[in-house]
Parts: sequence; C-alpha cells; structure tokens
Amino acid sequence: MSASMHAPSPSLNSTERRSAELERRVHANPRAYRILTGDRPTGPLHIGHYFGTLENRVRLQQLGVELLVVIADYQTITDRDSPASLPDDVEGIVADYLAAGIDPERAVIFTHSQVPELNELLVPFLSLVTVSELGRNPTVKDEITAAGGGSTSALMFTYPVHQAADILFCHANLVPVGKDQLPHLELSRTIARRFNDRYSPELPFFPEPEGLLGSAPLLLGPDAQKMSKSRGNAIALGADDDETARLVRSAKTDAERRITYEPDRRPEVANLLRIAALCLERPPDQIADEIGDRGAAALKDLVADALNARLGAIRTRRRELAKERDYLMTVLDAGNRRARAIAAATLDDVHRLMHTNYRGLELGARAIR
Ligand code: TRP
Repeated sequence: MSASMHAPSPSLNSTERRSAELERRVHANPRAYRILTGDRPTGPLHIGHYFGTLENRVRLQQLGVELLVVIADYQTITDRDSPASLPDDVEGIVADYLAAGIDPERAVIFTHSQVPELNELLVPFLSLVTVSELGRNPTVKDEITAAGGGSTSALMFTYPVHQAADILFCHANLVPVGKDQLPHLELSRTIARRFNDRYSPELPFFPEPEGLLGSAPLLLGPDAQKMSKSRGNAIALGADDDETARLVRSAKTDAERRITYEPDRRPEVANLLRIAALCLERPPDQIADEIGDRGAAALKDLVADALNARLGAIRTRRRELAKERDYLMTVLDAGNRRARAIAAATLDDVHRLMHTNYRGLELGARAIR
C-alpha cells in the first residue's frame, strides 16, 4: 500500500469546508446546478455506494438539481479486458439507480461507449496536462499499486483526463464524490481553467466544477477490507435478506464481548455499528451501549435486520425492475441519445474555439458560388 493512501490530500479540509457552504448554496438555488457523477460497471452496486453517493444523488435530484450519471464502461478497461458480463453489469446498475430512486424522467443515464463526442474531448484535454502531473495522481498511484504494479495500461494512467471529459462535456458544475475522487476533480478544474485560458480567455467556456463530499463514512466488507465490487466483499444493494444476514454474520470482529464504539481500536466492530447507525439514523455509540454485553452475535443480528428493513422497499423495486429488461434498456437508450446531443453541441463549440471547425469555410465558399 502506498503512503499516499494515508496522507490526506492538502485540499481535503478545504473541500470539506467548501462542501458545507456549497450545500447551503445548492439548497438556496438548486436549479443553478448540474451534477455529473458516475460508477464503473464492474458488478452490482453495494451498500457502500448506496450510503456513500446514491442516496445523496437522489436527495439532490429531489431538490431540483439536474442529474447526469455516467456508467463508466471505458473505465473498466483500465486494468482488465472488457468482460462478456458487461451488458448484464450495465443493466444491473441501471436497475440499481432506478430502484434507489433516481428519476429516469429527469436524469440522463448513459455509458461512455455510446457517446463518441465525449470521448473525442480526450484529445484536446490530453494536450493540456503533462505526463508528470498525471504521474503524481495519488488515486491512480494507489490503483496501480493495488493491481500489483507491473504493466500499467496507458488508459489507467490517463483515465482521470477521461473523467474530466465526463464532467466537462455537459458543463457540470457540481460533482458529488468520495475522497478518493478529489484528485480527479482537481484535474478537471485544471483542464477547464487551461482550456479557458488558452482558447476562450474572454468568456470562460467550461465551468470549474466543484466537489461535494458525502458525509457517509467508508464502509468495510465482512473481511474488514474496504468494501468494493472487485474485492468480492460487498453486500450488494440488490442482495436478498438471507444473503445479507449471511454476509453480516461472516463479518470479522474481535474477541471482546462488550460492544463499544471505538473506531481506532476496534475498526471491525465500529464498521458494523456505523452500518447500523446509517440504517437507523442514530448515533453509533448509542447503538453500542444498547447491545452492551450481548456481544458481536447480537450486534450482527441487529445490523442484518436494520439493513434489510432499510433496503426492503428498494429491493422489492429492484426485483420488479430486473424483470423489465426492455424498459431498462429504453431508459439507457434515451440517456445515451441525450448525452450524445449534449456532447455533440459541446464538441462543436470546442472545434470552433480551437479553430478546428472548417464547416464555416465550406459554407462561406458555397455562399460565394
Ligand atoms: N471513477 C469513478 C469511480 O470509480 C467513476 C466515475 C467515472 C466518475 N466518471 C466520473 C465519478 C465522473 C465522478 C465523475 O467511482
């Protein structure tokens, strides 16, 4: 594990402070904001996604903020071949989104691969960053280390630039992210600034997007490692009650019988208490006190019940949606079409600003004739 995972990025505290202020501004004027956020389709979304970002997206959409969500299929090939399961994974994520409450009538849900004009922005954007800047990205460094170093694809190295295209193609100005995404957001801001300085100094073309940090803590899986689809330690949003109970019961804890909330000394127990706290919307130490000497087994029963109660309605909806595959694809098709129209308009403007739009000449020539 590289040191950068432990050293908080210098911008973290200021982002946290800014996030609180930003929340206030968004509440005051939700229609001034357009959100772009996304997920890699490497498997079904899990409870970490739900509490970490999904719930937040739904809340902001309900406030009236415009929402675009990229299912980042071109990010899955940074460190693996694109698997045959990709269509099912993408469809599953659309189901996760809708089940969690994202409104398909208002949101634009799309995939990289179907929006060529977004991908084309990568070319000018790559010209605006240096190799050494990309090499310093702490999240990419961690991902390379986690993948065992070895042969890093050039896409792994440059995907944060691609992510800037995700955000900027639609002029998004608000990006709800986890802490690990902050370096990417910073790069998006840099690219927007440099593009504006170079090609549109009078009237800034791209907004510098602001990051909105969620308040939910990072969740651990039953193996006490960070919960993640690729680690295979995740409790899927769409898991059933029995599977949830089985996974929670398999969670690693410690030998002390009395349950206390001590995140530093007892990270595994604290993680279970946090999950319960998120579901029950009560402080974790209070839940710990109630369990007291009844031990880890009682805590796990409580966590499983709390999760199943909290997610019950979402899971029922998800099961219904999973049967309506045509409908899910219709939602994605419509999202891809809308994203494409937005991206094409942006690319047109970019061509014009970069003097790579030759249609004007053609029209002029025709007009003379
Ligand atoms: N990198 C993000 C993740 O792994 C997914 C993502 C892709 C994203 N494009 C984005 C997030 C744009 C925010 C904005 O979770």
